[in-house]
Amino acid sequence: MSKKIAVFVGSLRKESLNRKMAKVLAALAPESLNLEIIEIGGLPLYDQDLDDEGRPPSAWTEFRERVKSFDGFLFVTPEYNRSVPGVLKNAIDVGSRPYGQSVWGGKPGAVISVSPGAIGGFGANHHLRQSLVFLDVPAMQQPEAYLGGAAQLFDANNNISNEATREFLKKFVDAFAAWVAKNSSENP
Ligand SMILES: Cc1cc2nc3c(=O)[nH]c(=O)nc-3n(C[C@H](O)[C@H](O)[C@H](O)COP(=O)(O)O)c2cc1C
Repeated sequence: MSKKIAVFVGSLRKESLNRKMAKVLAALAPESLNLEIIEIGGLPLYDQDLDDEGRPPSAWTEFRERVKSFDGFLFVTPEYNRSVPGVLKNAIDVGSRPYGQSVWGGKPGAVISVSPGAIGGFGANHHLRQSLVFLDVPAMQQPEAYLGGAAQLFDANNNISNEATREFLKKFVDAFAAWVAKNSSENP
């Protein structure tokens, strides 16, 4: 049976390069993985009082329940000011609480950063990995994926125009499938 992977895109922009990348990866994924984008733009900003007072917004509760039903996570993110965009960090924070009830722990993940800039969102990619260490999400180490020059990556149909990049992305998603198989709870 294929593993369900929740995909989080760190941009809300309609023409987001990262969203396009998430869709390309979903199409390239082997049969053993089923990638589904989980929308995070509607999550209210995290406020611990709302959990402590037992009145979390329904959007948080629904998000937490939904994320729990997945077998692993793929983060596709731009870099904002050399770090993780607030919308993605907020989703991670919402999923991590209330204390002791994080939805993230123990499930495998991977990170890919996409930027029109030359260094491919390296800063965001690694700041995100820092959170994943704390959240106990084993994040795939290799291949690393920092996609720079991304404004030129997609053709008019939002396919990858460059064959070498397409091959790299296939290698990335196949390696992730192997990582998920190796790190799934029924395969300790
Ligand atoms: C607030 C803000 C900060 C940004 N900071 C960076 C940055 O540190 N590094 C970078 O490569 N691009 C930076 N950018 C440019 C983004 O990489 C670019 O807007 C990209 O297209 C965003 O991803 P998206 O196409 O998926 O929305 C920034 C953009 C915004 C809006």
